[in-house]
Parts: sequence; structure tokens; C-alpha cells
Amino acid sequence: MSEVAVIGAGTMGHALALVFALGGHNVCLTDSNKATLERAPALMATALETLAEAGEVSPAFKERGVGQSVRLCATLDETVRGADLVVEAIIETVDAKRTLYEQLVPLMKDDAILASNTSQLDIFPLVPEALKRRTLIAHWYTPPYLVDLVDVVGGPETDPAHVETVRAMLTAMGKAPIVFGKFVPGYVANRIQAAIAAEVYSLLDAGLVTPEEVDLSVVHGLALRLPVVAVLAKADFTGLPLVNMVLTNGSYVPPPEPKHSPTLEGLLAEGRTGVMAGKGFFDWGDEPPEALFRERDRRLLKLKQALRGIPPMLGKES
Ligand SMILES: NC(=O)c1ccc[n+]([C@@H]2O[C@H](COP(=O)([O-])OP(=O)(O)OC[C@H]3O[C@@H](n4cnc5c(N)ncnc54)[C@H](O)[C@@H]3O)[C@@H](O)[C@H]2O)c1
Repeated sequence: MSEVAVIGAGTMGHALALVFALGGHNVCLTDSNKATLERAPALMATALETLAEAGEVSPAFKERGVGQSVRLCATLDETVRGADLVVEAIIETVDAKRTLYEQLVPLMKDDAILASNTSQLDIFPLVPEALKRRTLIAHWYTPPYLVDLVDVVGGPETDPAHVETVRAMLTAMGKAPIVFGKFVPGYVANRIQAAIAAEVYSLLDAGLVTPEEVDLSVVHGLALRLPVVAVLAKADFTGLPLVNMVLTNGSYVPPPEPKHSPTLEGLLAEGRTGVMAGKGFFDWGDEPPEALFRERDRRLLKLKQALRGIPPMLGKES
């Protein structure tokens, strides 16, 4: 068991605190915004209840509740002091991250590792000399208590032993870390998601399809195959001559990444901001967002449990 500090208790931070607690670690969670920190226990408790309902939490952990393993800490010093791993999950701006890393230098234990959850920033140039060998990126996907992928990347000066320590820790927690050799903004999964978004908004903006047609095409077409043969194994099943022909014959040219989408901007102007507002591309009714998140999590859990018996195909199985 390790002592873990989680800095930032927003969308990701509170959920990461829960994930590390479920992984058997003691967690100190902090946020510079008092209200955000105080909101965290209720959010963690709801997520824990959903996981427990699906049988994903040991009865002992459920009995103890998350309060036993996650302490809310008012100051950075209290949060970080004694931590073996410091998880940075604060806002995605260069200035905020740089300032925080500087503040951490005198507070972190000499052998503590700093892991940033940044989505797309190259944080390594922002890290002070004293932390360079001990800083890496461990990037999670939301909700991290359900999505197993964690992108792990060391910087040019990161000690590979620290990368290995974090990889092993995540694996022991039942996660699926992928260690990348180099920092690539957006890693792989987010870049593929961005390419899908570029295509989808271009179709919508051209008035060629409806939101229902987009999502039903994904659900009934792409989604079934993805967990089993993903992208490159699927190419092998398609046959690479056809894959090459489609890529090179110009019959279909993917759109350039759009700088903006009139469809998306139109919805935003109408206050259709998504599930939190009860409406976005789709109408979500009067249910509170928490109920919709819970229902999403319940369905994802059923899928995840079913997929445990269906490993992906990546070449000859030994
Ligand atoms: N939201 C996602 O789906 C997602 C997924 C993967 C990675 N990330 C990354 O995780 C990080 C956090 O994203 P989020 O969506 O949770 O943001 P968020 O805005 O929900 O939460 C960030 C929190 O950091 C707090 N904060 C800001 N500066 C602070 C400081 N110096 N000390 C302590 N707390 C501070 C803010 O008060 C806020 O509550 C970002 O780097 C983001 O790119 C987000």
C-alpha cells in the first residue's frame, strides 16, 4: 500500500482519489476551491454505490466506505507530505501547472514520484530541475473507475525505474497502462477520438446526416467490432490490399480537422450544452444529471463485465 496525494478534486480528481482508494492505497485529496473539495465525498460515494451494486467492490471496502481511505486535505503541504505518489489533476493551463510544480519541490518527499493527468500538454519543460527525474504523465480516461486505459509517458529526463514503478502499480490496481516511448499530444485514444469528431462534425455541418444517424451507425456498426478486432487487427481481417486501396484511391478523403462547427455552435447558442443542461444533441428529459451518469455507468459496467470473457484478437494466440 502506498500513500497517494491527488491535487485537484474536479471532474477527474475526485474519481482518481476513488480509484486509488479502491486499488488499496491511502489518499489525500485537495483542491484550491473549497466548494469543489467539499463536493468530492458525495460524488465518490455515488460512484462507489454504482460499483458495489455491480459487485465490483469488496464487501469490506463497501462497508468501510470511501472516507476510510480518502482524506480531504486543506493545504498542499498536508496533502503532499508523506506521499509516495503525487497525482496532479488540476486545470489544463501551462501557468497553473508550472506554478504548482514549483510549489511541490520543497514539499514532496525526496523519492516521491509526480504523475500528471494532463490531456495534451507537454508538461516536461514546465517541471523544475529538482523533479525532472521523478516526473511522468499518467493520463486517465473518464470515468477512471470504469475505463482501464492509462497512458504512461516519461519525459526526456525521467528515470525509467519510476515509469516502471507506476506501470506496475497501475497493473496491480487492475488497470491497463500503456507505456509510450515519447510524448504525443492526445496520446493515441484521444487522437482517434478527435479524428472521429472531425469527421462527425463535418457530416453534420454539411447537413448530410442527423445526430441519430451518426450515433446509431457507430453503435450498430463500429462498436460491436472494436473490442474484438479494434482497428489494425480489423484491417488484417478486411485484407490489406482493400485497406490500401481505400486509403489511396481518393474515393473518400477525410475532412481536415475543423476549427469550429456551426452545428455545435448553434446548439451552444441555444443553451443545449449537454447532459448537465438536460439537452444537447439529444433531449435528456428532467432527470438530474447524477441519475444519467449513474445509468451510463451501470450500462458501461454490464458491458465491461461481459467483455472480460471476450479478449481482443491481436494475432496468433498462444
Ligand atoms: N475531464 C476529463 O474528461 C479529463 C480526462 C483526462 C484528463 N483530464 C485532465 O485532468 C486535469 C483536470 O481536468 P478536470 O476535467 O478534472 O478539470 P476540472 O476543472 O474539473 O478540475 C480541476 C480542478 O483543479 C483545481 N485547481 C486548479 N488549480 C489548482 C491548484 N493549484 N491546486 C489545487 N487545485 C487546483 C480547480 O479548482 C478544479 O477544481 C486536466 O489536466 C485535464 O486535461 C481531464
